[in-house]
Amino acid sequence: MLLETSIYKEIFGNLVFHEVQKVLKIDTETASVKSSLVQNIPREEIYNLLGEMAVIIPLKDEKLQLLDGVLKAIPHKCPLIIVSGSRRESPDHFKLEVDLVKHFYSLTRTKIIMIHQKDAGLSEAFEKSGYNHILTKEGNVRDGKGEGMVIGTLLAKAIGAKFIGFIDADNYIPGSVNEYVKNYAAGFLMSESENTMVRLSWRHKPKVRKWRLYFRKWGRVSEITNRFFNLLIAEYTGFETNIIVTGNAGEHAMSTSLASSIEFSTGYSVEPYQIVFLLEQANINNNKKIKKEPVEIFQIETLNPHIHEEKGDEHLGEMIKMSLSTIYHSKLCSPSLKKQILKELQARKILEEGKEPEKPYNLPPINKIKTDEWFKNLENNSETLLILEPYIEI
Ligand code: GDP
Ligand code: CO
Repeated sequence: MLLETSIYKEIFGNLVFHEVQKVLKIDTETASVKSSLVQNIPREEIYNLLGEMAVIIPLKDEKLQLLDGVLKAIPHKCPLIIVSGSRRESPDHFKLEVDLVKHFYSLTRTKIIMIHQKDAGLSEAFEKSGYNHILTKEGNVRDGKGEGMVIGTLLAKAIGAKFIGFIDADNYIPGSVNEYVKNYAAGFLMSESENTMVRLSWRHKPKVRKWRLYFRKWGRVSEITNRFFNLLIAEYTGFETNIIVTGNAGEHAMSTSLASSIEFSTGYSVEPYQIVFLLEQANINNNKKIKKEPVEIFQIETLNPHIHEEKGDEHLGEMIKMSLSTIYHSKLCSPSLKKQILKELQARKILEEGKEPEKPYNLPPINKIKTDEWFKNLENNSETLLILEPYIEI
């Protein structure tokens, strides 16, 4: 893969943000590149890494045709981890998903692990591990994509994956999914650190308008979130910046070590909160007494446009509120930036005057959980855990 070289960076102690890098060629050979403005990640290296990357698919009541396309598009070497929060009765959507996954497996022999988020054995495994934060008062696993991501990350750890890539199940373009996974691998290969995050950015998110595809620029919500992230950074550096373009990146990947050590937020806060958390944890003042592992964040602009299921415009306000709320409630946010956030939310009629956006609910890092014990408990008690490996006949 040929990518623009990341030249401009923002550095906060142990945390490095790379500027956005465009894909210039999806698939390349080992031949060396003559320009320092272009970086080559050869195909062989990407394929070597894919076997170590588990792809986690959070899934809730999506069209089966979309799930089918996504499954078929992910490179064969990546083990798949599907965490479903879909309906289980009248009609039983989860059963249809399981049937589809089994059929896909019998055709392709891809390694797959699948589970339902509301599995009683799963909540028991969490309870025994002392990780009650993910449970409701009644003792079930909470709804939500962030919660599904935590479950998937633990399963990826249990099978020894070194890297984790998240892929949404509602993508209309299977070829774009194939690219995303390779973009993730390229990001990991560019990193000089064990703790890496790769966030994808899109140039276009097309809509159907007047009977044709209209290639709208990505992100009304993203633009707002990014603006406030960049203001937060400018407060520290004293230099205004546009470095952050993926505040809301839905599609992203992390090395398993990084995914284990960060808090996961819930709802629409998941992706923006990762940046807030990493900034808060960074050794911003370069205190020599504090030892922190280096963390690198890459932002890659994909070649493919992003076309996913449109779930209506009414949740856009909620998305903006929950994204900005991660910044608002951060200890790094100054009183003047807080004021600006309130003004923005009030002007958009998302928040009443005199009120504050609600603080998002965050799940603590999963490195507190003993993965082997958790997985053993899960295997013994789960009603929905499905493990499909090439040597298993179904
Ligand atoms: P958006 O694209 O960021 O607006 O969010 P989506 O609604 O498309 O959700 C992203 C992915 O998470 C999709 O694959 C959803 O099916 C999945 N998802 C949403 N809510 C849940 C949930 O409560 N549990 C699980 N396991 N997955 C979810
Ligand atoms: Co979506």
